[in-house]
Amino acid sequence: MEDAGCIAVPRTAEDWNALWHQKQSLHSTAHGADYWNARARTYTTKDAPNSYTARFLEAAQLRPGDTVLDMGCGTGNLTIPVAKAGHQVLAADFSSGMLAKLEAAVQESGLQERVRTLQLAWDDDWEAAGLHEGQFDVCFASRSIATEDLLGALSKLDWAARRRACITLPYGVSPRTDDRMLKEIGFDVQPSYDGAYALAMLSALGQTPSVSHIPTTRTDVFASIDEAFERYHRMAVEYERVACEHIPEADLATRVRAWLDENLVSAADASAPGALTLARPRESYWTCICWDKR
Ligand SMILES: C[S@@+](CC[C@H](N)C(=O)[O-])C[C@H]1O[C@@H](n2cnc3c(N)ncnc32)[C@H](O)[C@@H]1O
Repeated sequence: MEDAGCIAVPRTAEDWNALWHQKQSLHSTAHGADYWNARARTYTTKDAPNSYTARFLEAAQLRPGDTVLDMGCGTGNLTIPVAKAGHQVLAADFSSGMLAKLEAAVQESGLQERVRTLQLAWDDDWEAAGLHEGQFDVCFASRSIATEDLLGALSKLDWAARRRACITLPYGVSPRTDDRMLKEIGFDVQPSYDGAYALAMLSALGQTPSVSHIPTTRTDVFASIDEAFERYHRMAVEYERVACEHIPEADLATRVRAWLDENLVSAADASAPGALTLARPRESYWTCICWDKR
C-alpha cells in the first residue's frame, strides 16, 4: 500500500526523546559536575528577592509530613525552606561542591535531622544508588534537568515519587542567554520548547501534567565593558550555532557592542568601582510542569 499522505511525526515517548537528544547535541557545552563544582564557589540564590521559590513550592503542593526528593538541589534554594517547614528531604546533586555548600547551610540552620545528601546524577542507576520505587511522597527537580536523556530523567523522578512530581525547564533559549539582546540585535529568537518536549513525553507515558510559568529576574554585574562584551558576544555566537542563523562576524560584534553601549549603566551598589549592570534587569520564565501519579 502506498504511504502517500503519511508524514513522520513523533508518536512515542522514545520518538520525542530522540528529538530531544538531537536538540541537545547542538549545544557545544554539556555542563558536567566540574563546571557546577566551580560555580558552587560563588553560587547563591539567583532570585532573591523574587518569588521563584514560593511559586515552585506552591506548584509542588506539599502536604504536612510529606517526604521529598530534591534532585539537582544545588546549594539548597528549595531544600532549606522545605526542611524548615518540617519535611524530611533527600537532597541529591552530582556536584560535590554544591552538596558541600548545602551541608554547611543545613548545619547553620540546625536542620541535620531533616536533610540527607546524596551525590547522584540523572544518568546514574538510581536503584543501585539505594533509592527505591515510590520512596518519596513528592519528587522535584528545579532548574536542574540537564541530560541528553530527558525521558530517562522524567521516568526516574516518576518512579521515585509516590504521589506527585514537579520540574522546571527553561522557557527561553537558555537560562544563561539574554533573549532580549538576541532579538534586539536581529535574531529571530524562538522559545526553547523544552517544556513542550517534557509534556509530550509525559503525555505519552499516560500522565496528565499541569503547566504554569514562573518569572525570574536576574541582575548581571560586569567588572568592565570588556567583560560584558566577552560574555554577550559569546552568547550571540553560541546562539548562531544552535539556531542556524547567521550574522557576519564583524557585524555581529558591532551590534553586540552597540547594544551594550545602549543598555549598560553603572552598578550603583556594586562593591567594585567601575562595575556595570544592565539598565533593565534580565527577565526570563521557567516552565513548571507537575503531575500527580496515576
Ligand atoms: C541551576 S542549579 C539549580 C539549583 C536548585 N535546584 C534551584 O532551583 O535553585 C542546577 C543544579 O543541577 C545540578 N545538575 C546539573 N546537571 C546535573 C546532572 N546531570 N545530574 C545531577 N545534578 C545535576 C547542578 O550541579 C546544580 O546544582
